[in-house]
Amino acid sequence: MAAIVEHRQFDLKRYVGKEINNIILMEPIGQGAMGAVFVGYQKSLKRKVAVKLFPRQIEGAADYSVNFRDEAEIVAGLNHPNIVQIFDMGETSEYLYIIMQLVVGEDLRIMIQRHQLNPIPVRRRIDLNKVLGIMLPVLDALSYAHEEGVIHQDIKPANILIEEKSGRPFLADFGIARSALNEDRDGASVIMGTPLYIAPEQICEEKTDQRADIYSAGTVLFEAIAGKLPFKTTTVEALLNLKMNNPEALYSMTPSQCCPDIDSELEKIILKAIDPNKERRYQTCRSFYLNLSLYMKNRFNGGIS
Ligand SMILES: Nc1ncnc2c1ncn2[C@@H]1O[C@H](COP(=O)(O)OP(=O)(O)OP(=O)(O)O)[C@@H](O)[C@H]1O
Ligand SMILES: [Mg+2]
Repeated sequence: MAAIVEHRQFDLKRYVGKEINNIILMEPIGQGAMGAVFVGYQKSLKRKVAVKLFPRQIEGAADYSVNFRDEAEIVAGLNHPNIVQIFDMGETSEYLYIIMQLVVGEDLRIMIQRHQLNPIPVRRRIDLNKVLGIMLPVLDALSYAHEEGVIHQDIKPANILIEEKSGRPFLADFGIARSALNEDRDGASVIMGTPLYIAPEQICEEKTDQRADIYSAGTVLFEAIAGKLPFKTTTVEALLNLKMNNPEALYSMTPSQCCPDIDSELEKIILKAIDPNKERRYQTCRSFYLNLSLYMKNRFNGGIS
């Protein structure tokens, strides 16, 4: 079984004020499994950008620059209004870096958590119409990427950024972090980030395809609507074990039991996306997207309810 990457802390403050490739690092935005993201000021174009750093001080990091470069080139070729644009990438003796579009707003993980804290129980979930307004463009972006032959492999709420001004969602972190991490020092494959969203086959199979992204996107959709995922277990090991050996028993409630906003039509769509058996899942993200957009039209434009 592949190893799980723990989120590693590193000292973000020491990077503030440094200059990389004509960009001054300003305040840190956040950090993930292997890197940290900063607001940067690009002097030449007098604009703010986002800079993701993968410090080499992290074990194994020195080995991944070739994969990283290849993947960054592929992702830079993606051109979609809901995919974070890559401006540049490079490396120094201390770190690898990616310069990308800065999305000013919050990510879906924070948005879900913010709602959960609302003192009024009915407001503890994001409005269904709003969730669909976020997830449909994300699924369209993911369908486009798949059609271009690019698989994301780390779809999760933290990688969906929502621009505050426009409400527009952006999918971030295509493949790059995965390529940087797909082997640990002993050559074993490594699972990225949190195991909550990965498809069962991602735990034990070497090569996965677009259907793994569909599973993760379905899980994110479920969580964003319901405000939570009703897993039967609480430890990471038990969760991975269930996903691998008894995935049908992963959840303690069906989506509709978990949230009154989920009617039988929507439940069918969610269950098809998160089917543990990849052969029974949506086979393309486009068909998932089309089903969900038809559902939205029917439900909110005078159809089902
Ligand atoms: N282009 C961007 N513009 C604005 N904020 C961003 C951008 N990219 C990432 N972020 C923010 O920075 C935070 C850290 O991102 P990062 O990708 O390092 O971690 P993660 O997504 O939580 O985990 P992982 O390392 O597994 O991808 C994210 O939560 C996100 O909100
Ligand atoms: Mg990320």
